This record gives sequence, C-alpha cells and structure tokens, in this order.
Amino acid sequence: MDLGLKGKVAVIMGGSSGVGLKTAEMFLDEGAKIAICGRSEERLENAQTHLLSFGDEKDILALTCDVTSKADVDSFIKGAAEKFNGIDILVNAAGQSVMGYFFDITDEQWQEQIQLKYFAIIYAIRAAHPHLVKRGGGRIININATLAKEPERHMVATAATRAGLLNLSKTLSQELALDNILVNSVSLGLIRTDQWERRRLKNAPDMEPEEYYEDLAKKRNIPLGRVGEAEEVASVIVFLASDKASYVAGSTIEAAGAIGKAL
Ligand SMILES: NC(=O)c1ccc[n+]([C@@H]2O[C@H](COP(=O)([O-])OP(=O)(O)OC[C@H]3O[C@@H](n4cnc5c(N)ncnc54)[C@H](OP(=O)(O)O)[C@@H]3O)[C@@H](O)[C@H]2O)c1
Repeated sequence: MDLGLKGKVAVIMGGSSGVGLKTAEMFLDEGAKIAICGRSEERLENAQTHLLSFGDEKDILALTCDVTSKADVDSFIKGAAEKFNGIDILVNAAGQSVMGYFFDITDEQWQEQIQLKYFAIIYAIRAAHPHLVKRGGGRIININATLAKEPERHMVATAATRAGLLNLSKTLSQELALDNILVNSVSLGLIRTDQWERRRLKNAPDMEPEEYYEDLAKKRNIPLGRVGEAEEVASVIVFLASDKASYVAGSTIEAAGAIGKAL
C-alpha cells in the first residue's frame, strides 16, 4: 500500500528514543526524510547511527534541542526546514511522565510538566506552522496518554497536563483545518520504551524484562494482556501522517490495548 509519504519531511520532537525513534524508522522506510531531536547528545548520536540502517544519511537530521526552550525549538525547526527545503509533518513525541501524588509534587515539577506538555507543543506548532502552510497543508500528531481522560492519583501532574493538551489539540484541529493542516492525537497506554526500561532498572533490576512486563500488564489489568511495543504506536502515527488519513482531523486514536474505559 502506498502511504504517499515518499519525499515528505517529518519533524519528530523527541525522536532519539522510544516511540519517536520507531516513528523515524517507519517514516524512512516509507521514503520520507526525518529530523529528530533530544537533549542527550549521546542518545541522539546512537539514534542517528541506528537510523542509517533505515535510510540515507542525506535524509536524516539529528540535532540537540530541549523542547522546553523556545530558542532551541525555533532553531531546530528552522534547521530542518532549511536542510529539507520545507516541512510536511510534525510529531510531538518528546517527554516523560512524573510519578507522584498531589502532595508529593513540587512546584518545580508542576512547572516542568506544564513546560513539557503545553509550551513545548505550542513552541513547535508555532515554529512549524508557516512551513506547513507554505506546502499547502500538512499533519500534526500530538502524542498523549490515556491518563488525559482517565486520571490516576499517583500521576496527578502528568494526567492534568495531558488533559490540557488533549483539549488544546482539539481546538487546534479546528483552527488549523483552515490551513489544511490535520491535527490528531495518539493516546498511549503502557508502551515498552526506554522510559519504562529506566523504571524497570530502578525498581526491579533483578527481574527479567519479560517477567517484569508480564507482571506490569497483569497489575494494570490491560485487557489485551500485554504491554504495547513502540512500533505499535509508530504505525498509528505513520497512518495519521499518510494520505490514507486525509479526512481524519481532531481525533484521538488509542494505542493502549483497550486499557481506557473513557468514551
Ligand atoms: N511509554 C509509555 O508507556 C507512555 C505512555 C503514555 C505517554 N507516553 C508519552 O509518549 C512520548 C514518548 O515517550 P517514550 O515512552 O517513547 O519515552 P522515551 O523512550 O523516554 O523517549 C522520550 C524522547 O523524548 C526526548 N525528550 C524528553 N524530554 C525532552 C526535552 N525536554 N527536550 C527534547 N527531547 C526530550 C528524549 O530524549 P532526551 O531524554 O535525550 O531529551 C527521547 O528522545 C512521551 O511524551 C511520553 O510521555 C509514553
């Protein structure tokens, strides 16, 4: 099936690991050009080397960028647009969650989450918008979490900011539709990425990974009976970026193994 992504330019905020990196692989497989970013230079270099198995060096841009810094985001997106002569797709996949109950979360942690879950997305969309308009339209895909609709007490700051992002995505889908830019969200449940690997190594370093994830799926009652894989999210993102999703806007697709009960 031709997804119509050949030659398209996809900018992935936070593409140096996990879901973002898998998405970069799939875009390259489809003949797209990709720009990825992250804060850690080492992680970024490893990602860039890894991506060379999926695409040509000239089709890959990897730059350090902290998405919570407007200056960094502006410079990364400008760099991508200059290298590839435009931008067609923006994927907001940078981030991580913070665990803690309301009285555990410090003001600094609240500020960090607000910066990461709101402002980073605002900065990226503002910076990418003129480039998408120049192309006559494009796609924006915001990665979210089922927590946005189903908050959990032990992740209060992540859940509250995710709910705000879901709301913002809906508004933007209407405003940017006027520019033929389709905005959608992908809502994740529990996905096996570096984020979870760091938690496993911290909380259960002696447990075999397979046993840890089986146990996690049981504890969280995931109806599908297992934790998801990054490629199972990336394929949804690539679909939303493709010609096959040309009338999908303002939607949220759950990649969560039926964990969410919210309608
Ligand atoms: N995995 C899950 O179960 C799950 C569930 C719900 C939602 N999500 C969301 O899905 C998205 C992808 O997460 P993942 O699971 O793929 O995690 P991951 O493997 O840890 O990847 C996160 C990526 O974001 C980058 N990043 C984090 N903070 C950044 C910042 N301030 N500036 C620039 N880049 C930054 C990381 O690079 P650096 O650290 O080097 O900056 C990395 O490339 C995140 O928004 C996450 O909250 C994940």
